[in-house]
Amino acid sequence: MGREIYAVANWKMYKTAREATDYVEKLSPKIQYCKTNVYLAVPFTSIFSVSAFAKETCLSVGAQNMSDAKEGAFTGEVASFMLKEAGASFVLLGHSERRVLFGETNECIHRKVLRALQDDIRPILCIGETKKERDESRTEEVIEEEIVVALSEIPKEDAARLILAYEPVWAIGTGAVPTSSMIEKAHAYCRTVLGKLFGQKTAEKIPILYGGSVKPSNVESIVSLKDVDGVLVGGASLDPEIFSQIVMECERIERK
Ligand code: 13P
Repeated sequence: MGREIYAVANWKMYKTAREATDYVEKLSPKIQYCKTNVYLAVPFTSIFSVSAFAKETCLSVGAQNMSDAKEGAFTGEVASFMLKEAGASFVLLGHSERRVLFGETNECIHRKVLRALQDDIRPILCIGETKKERDESRTEEVIEEEIVVALSEIPKEDAARLILAYEPVWAIGTGAVPTSSMIEKAHAYCRTVLGKLFGQKTAEKIPILYGGSVKPSNVESIVSLKDVDGVLVGGASLDPEIFSQIVMECERIERK
């Protein structure tokens, strides 16, 4: 039995709560009978309204970030149990925009992963190299460090709840997509690193998604690659029609 397929939308800082509800109203009839796992990572302000709406559908709603602290005097932060109560079932952690623009380190992302698991929120850990790191042939070294630091101390029984998203920084929002061989190599390496941490059997269960300039015309060829279990989509997820086309392409893929 092959791993399931995931189509995850990352709206980033787009859409008000009202726009979010309109979006879900348009998307949900199109994906009603899907076996693909359709996840929406929405701004904090839309989690509650979208999750109430999505209850009747196959959608899961999540956040794009959370605090590493349990609770306390952390002005402007949002805790994982608050997300859970608002209806989030998953959270993106370590997105390159968080790392680059907000200074998140591997250690901080590690604390967030532990916290999310404790509060029963499924973490989607984002990793990936910059253009410079790829040019210096450091891709494997960089992604290994990101995975190993973020996922250390995680009990094997929790590991199967993780999702990994390989997003080369140079492919995000640029229209530049790595070759199939680059994607396959990176995903295979991610699985090897997961195997070293949790054992091969558990590593085989962890979905590894690809992200970076995914659109309806390239999604099928990407998700058909070995060790690719779905996509994390930014720009092309903002329009429900286009995102539903991506989901439909995922539906056509037969898992080996
Ligand atoms: P794009 O799909 O716009 O390249 O963004 C990818 C991304 O950052 C998803 O998390």
